Amino acid sequence: MYGSRIAGTGASVPDRILTNADLEQMVSTSDEWIVTRTGISERRIASDDQATSDLAEGAARRALEAAAVDPHDLDLILVNTVTPDMFFPSTACVLQERLGASRAAAFDLLAACAGFIYGLSVADAYVRAGLMRNILVIGADTLSKVVDWTDRGTCVLFGDGAGAVLVQRTTADPSILSTHLYSDGSKGKQLMIPGGGSRQPASQKVIDEKLVTIRMPNGNEVFKTAVRSMEDAAMAALKANGVEVSDIDLFISHQANARIIYAVAERLDLPRERIFMNIDRYGNTSAASIPIAIDEAVRAGRLKRGDLLLLTAFGGGITWGSALIRW
Ligand code: ACO
Repeated sequence: MYGSRIAGTGASVPDRILTNADLEQMVSTSDEWIVTRTGISERRIASDDQATSDLAEGAARRALEAAAVDPHDLDLILVNTVTPDMFFPSTACVLQERLGASRAAAFDLLAACAGFIYGLSVADAYVRAGLMRNILVIGADTLSKVVDWTDRGTCVLFGDGAGAVLVQRTTADPSILSTHLYSDGSKGKQLMIPGGGSRQPASQKVIDEKLVTIRMPNGNEVFKTAVRSMEDAAMAALKANGVEVSDIDLFISHQANARIIYAVAERLDLPRERIFMNIDRYGNTSAASIPIAIDEAVRAGRLKRGDLLLLTAFGGGITWGSALIRW
């Protein structure tokens, strides 16, 4: 019987900081509005020559180092992203070459902000099936490249970054206890980039109509859907493992909005001191938000061996899910 453990974590964010004061110069907004509505004070923005793979590589190298795993021993590189370097080759293949992961398969997975939990679930399934030993699961996005910087309803929310974990086969007690994944394509229009694909290929018209940037026609609806779905996914994780909310040592949710995270925690009756949040410094980094938070929690000593960690995420698609991990 095989199970998965998380052998190492890593993260990487761009150096450039965009503060709420900077945004006040760009669109009609205020630091007070952004902080009270979202909890975000600043976010990191990739430079013009920095692509998703560049951030992913930094996170991957740190996770490999923390796990003391050689890239040649990787069986799979799985990059969860909605902002790949290009349509193809995949960002995972770009990394395979850069890391020198000679034996690894590589592919990208698209589940938007829920991407990391989707990726974790896929990695865990390969490991449990006995097919693979070492899998690098990366969440990486550069949403700043696809944000409409004139739309104050979205441009204040997002930032860039990457996080990675090394999922490793174990015959001892597994760390990844469960994952639950869900989707509802009927709500896809709540959050999308409609153009640039095969339905509306990139053309001057498509670009002029701003169809290659993020659209979120009703943020409030997204807010409500996010709270409900993450509460349900969290409850499914607790029920499947026969654990109580009081057993959870740390709760890390996708960092989309501090109010969403507090609302989920409140519905679960989870005290605020057991929530890990870094949205104030990074904004919503999409698939990267959970692995960046995990890495920060580990390095800050907030997450210790034996702790019970609950993850929940929600994203475009729409997709959502949860994972329960004995750290
Ligand atoms: N600065 C100032 N005012 C603004 C801004 C801004 N940046 N953005 C919107 N407003 C205005 C609106 O125009 C509106 O004005 P009006 O009342 O005159 O019409 C007012 O603020 C209130 O707007 P609401 O949308 O009702 O504000 P709400 O409290 O819902 O907060 C927010 C908006 C922050 C977008 C919230 O709905 C939210 O966080 N939703 C979830 C968004 C999200 O997380 N998306 C991504 C999730 S999935 C993923 O991570 C990819």
